[in-house]
Amino acid sequence: MSQTYDRGPVEDFGRWREFSAGMWAWIFHKFTGWVLVGYLFTHIAVLSTATAGGTVYTETIRGLESLLVVRILEVGLLAVAVFHILNGVRLLFVDLGVGLESQDRSFYASLVLTGAIVVASVPTFLAGAF
Ligand code: HEM
Repeated sequence: MSQTYDRGPVEDFGRWREFSAGMWAWIFHKFTGWVLVGYLFTHIAVLSTATAGGTVYTETIRGLESLLVVRILEVGLLAVAVFHILNGVRLLFVDLGVGLESQDRSFYASLVLTGAIVVASVPTFLAGAF
């Protein structure tokens, strides 16, 4: 027999100020997961230029890397990927019942670590961009 209960308007995104850390973790994980899937299409499109010859591929990469917006998007992609990986590993531990008492803190740790790695990557990604 199925059971129902009144969850209330929990998924009412107009109430985002009331969201708990877990809700933000859920939103960020979904968002970053689907951004990564979206990037996969771009990635395959760029890689497939290699089928037209090595020179076409090299020129495509050079052309893209010469654009500031691409360099900035790369930093964004790193942020999204690092957060998804760190929070994903955290979720796997949660699924195993490890660290259930400190879920909020481990989520904040994922955010802080992501921020630190992204900041540290900026000199590399933006090298020669200006
Ligand atoms: C080391 C790398 C990764 C780890 C540890 C990881 C971990 C996870 C975990 C644990 C979930 C399930 C979260 C839940 O319980 O609801 C998940 C969801 C998901 N992941 Fe990953 N993931 C990784 C890489 C990727 C990559 C490379 C992509 C895309 C190409 C991706 C796309 C997604 C998507 C679309 C979801 C579902 C989001 C939703 O709930 O709608 N993940 N990931």
